Amino acid sequence: MVKKVAILANGGDVSGFNAVIRAIVKTAENNNIECYGFIDGYRGLLKNNYVRLCTNNSENASGILPKGGSIIGSSTNANVFHYPVEENGQVVYKDLSDVCVENVKKDGFDCLFTLGGDGTQKSARDFSLRGINVIGVPKTIDNDVACTDITFGYNTAVSVAADALDRLHTTGETHHRIMVLEVMGRYAGWIALESAIAGGADIAFIPEIPYDINCAVRKIEERRKMGKEFSIVVVAEGAFPKGGDISVESVRHNGTGVDNNKLGGAGSKVAKELEKLTGLEARCTVLGYMQRGGTPTAFDRVLSTKYGAKAMELAMEGKFNVLTVIKDGKLDAVSLEDVVGNNKEIGAVSGNTKESNIRKVTMDHDLVKTARSIGICLGD
Ligand code: F6P
Repeated sequence: MVKKVAILANGGDVSGFNAVIRAIVKTAENNNIECYGFIDGYRGLLKNNYVRLCTNNSENASGILPKGGSIIGSSTNANVFHYPVEENGQVVYKDLSDVCVENVKKDGFDCLFTLGGDGTQKSARDFSLRGINVIGVPKTIDNDVACTDITFGYNTAVSVAADALDRLHTTGETHHRIMVLEVMGRYAGWIALESAIAGGADIAFIPEIPYDINCAVRKIEERRKMGKEFSIVVVAEGAFPKGGDISVESVRHNGTGVDNNKLGGAGSKVAKELEKLTGLEARCTVLGYMQRGGTPTAFDRVLSTKYGAKAMELAMEGKFNVLTVIKDGKLDAVSLEDVVGNNKEIGAVSGNTKESNIRKVTMDHDLVKTARSIGICLGD
């Protein structure tokens, strides 16, 4: 019987974190289960820093459905299995997972809900191997978690990018310019591809298709011949040219099992080249954290609520060590091992790394087919 549960939100913030928290808390309350939240993700688990979550009488988990961010914070790049610690003025990396296991056990949490992307779920899987009951909920604007059709936060990010493209259209048209929009997504092109379709872009570069800049130049020339003096280009931050490299803005030192690459610069690289090769003025806008913050779309509110309620129901049924997913439009659960466990190269270490088994855009996906059908140049 589940009596006391805890939630942790981990990784980059997304719109929808609070909607999931609220749904878990409400479902718990309706079943007389106490709910708590660890502050700042796995860091809170390590420090045993948590708060009670309630929706009664305008308590902390009430009125949060439309709110961006996470009321219990979140931590990025925190791998407690390989955690940076200062010792004698030097940074050393330690496996502090035992401290976390002890914290969960001594305070009697029957289940830990882990809201996060593939790095978070890898750690969750590793905690499950150490006897903690975990249930994951797939979060990330990147939409790249394996075994689910969609993660919460993604739809809002696409909507923000589509809105930005509408605005860039008017400037592009007025000044006869090439307008480049760099969007997030890390090593997957979901946000770029879907927002390019939603925002009527002419060209979209995604990491799954190394691009040839000359294809984009030809597309822009074709448009010019038709009297269209402007073009709209979406560039995923992880996009790179054929035979070239990914654009990395900086490298962090957070240990192994996390992504130490801070991506950036792909959009301005494309804008500079297009300006040189077409003779048209090109401008780059980096959408950045606008895609993660603020109020979730109605779609994300509903998806997050479904995921949260399902997660709590699974806990009450005693079905642990799984991830809530949407498969073929249906709410379901799959084993965490299936989601993050089958990449033996990184073994039991968590991490949203380039090598991890993230879900990428496949060439037979409807979004790719649709983009090609309507003539969006994908750089190949
Ligand atoms: O994974 C979500 C994401 O927003 C990526 O799209 C982006 O590359 C990254 O996080 C940025 O991370 P940070 O918050 O560490 O700058």
